[in-house]
Amino acid sequence: MEPGEYYREALGLFPGGAPGALRRAFHKWGPLVVKSAKGARLKTVDGREFLDYHMAFGAILLGHTDPDVVEAAIAEASLLDLHGAGVTDVEVEYARMIVDLIPSAEKIVFTNSGSEAVLVAFRLARAYTGRTKILKFEGNYHGWHDYALINVSTPLARGKIPETDGVPGKVLETIDVLPYNDVEALEDYMDRHGEEVAAIILEPVAHSMGVVPAEPRFIKAVERLAKTHGALLILDEIVTAFRHNIHGLQEELGIRPDLTTVGKAVANGYPVAAVTGRRQILDLVTEGLVRTSGTYSAHPVAMAAGKAALEKIVKTRADLEAARRGEELANGLREILGDAGITAFVANYRSITTIYFGIEEQPRNLEDVTRIDKAMYELFNREMWHRGILYSPNPSKRIHLSTAHTREEIQAFLEAAASAAKSLTRPGEAKPVATIKTRRRK
Ligand SMILES: Cc1ncc(COP(=O)(O)O)c(C=O)c1O
Repeated sequence: MEPGEYYREALGLFPGGAPGALRRAFHKWGPLVVKSAKGARLKTVDGREFLDYHMAFGAILLGHTDPDVVEAAIAEASLLDLHGAGVTDVEVEYARMIVDLIPSAEKIVFTNSGSEAVLVAFRLARAYTGRTKILKFEGNYHGWHDYALINVSTPLARGKIPETDGVPGKVLETIDVLPYNDVEALEDYMDRHGEEVAAIILEPVAHSMGVVPAEPRFIKAVERLAKTHGALLILDEIVTAFRHNIHGLQEELGIRPDLTTVGKAVANGYPVAAVTGRRQILDLVTEGLVRTSGTYSAHPVAMAAGKAALEKIVKTRADLEAARRGEELANGLREILGDAGITAFVANYRSITTIYFGIEEQPRNLEDVTRIDKAMYELFNREMWHRGILYSPNPSKRIHLSTAHTREEIQAFLEAAASAAKSLTRPGEAKPVATIKTRRRK
């Protein structure tokens, strides 16, 4: 079948033509039907090759189908599918590695996804403190479930808003949302409601808005105020752990969270996430006070692939290596956009880069991010797509580097960017943006 036929079939089968809005967006410039991937390259069913700078939302750090990871997965798959009883040797060894790497981790619960890990963390925090409220920050994403999909891309100025229908009002009452990087708002809130809060959750770098780092003063205030008021601190390191630092960002930020969620790079593309943290809190599971489960949790193949990936990430210091490449790409982009006279702020945090068109300073929160020129982002993204460069068409999302991106491939990105910038600054050359129409919600 041709990509167009698969796409039409997909539209009939999957609401929106893909599992989820972020993946759906990739059909924007033409049907994207993926067949295979190796290193930094991704091939479609019709043989088109893209240089991949999306890297599965950042889950891939060693490059696609890394031979050591594939070998471990195949070896385990031929030994064991699913056992559903006790533990496996591989699972214990992998857990030991993660607990030794993450400074605040003493015990661990594996899940299949980051969303599930956050759900477990919320349940643990509520059970441990006997309180109900979770405090999150605007523009931070912690999964697609009812307790988290609130004010991720919708500014608080419009109210506390879930970004999906179907969230019960009662659930919404258990979550409060504050602006990111606003110490005064946090102090004020904790003065009034601190004793109701079970946990404060945040991303140390809010990659859900692109690249918006927590300011040192803010992150310290979060830790201090949580402690003062007896609330737990949950650090969501699902993007940052292992990708930015094999020990997560907590140590270099000088904080010690009570619970930490990890995912994505921890298994280089296999379905593994986890909640880790203080023994006392996680032992609520042992005592049967908190229940977690999942037929497929700690799946042997994912465990074996994840363990091989993490061993390689640590051995090769893939975090540092990918960061070097990410910074090279960001510097190149700054020069290109500057030379072309395009107003943009290229925000970089190690291996992750976001181009914020239409603004000239590092955004500090969601309100800043909403000021970007979305149309320009889309035009540039489309021009890059036509030049064989793939990254998220969603404005304010991210470009991810892996250790598989070669110097030539980074150069290819920059050459495409220079040519795209040129076409956009010469009126008439760039074609109007064609968007896939989705029905507006009532
Ligand atoms: C910071 C953060 N937390 C949680 C999640 C949810 O993880 P998953 O998509 O594996 O459910 C994500 C996913 O992008 C994330 O970026």
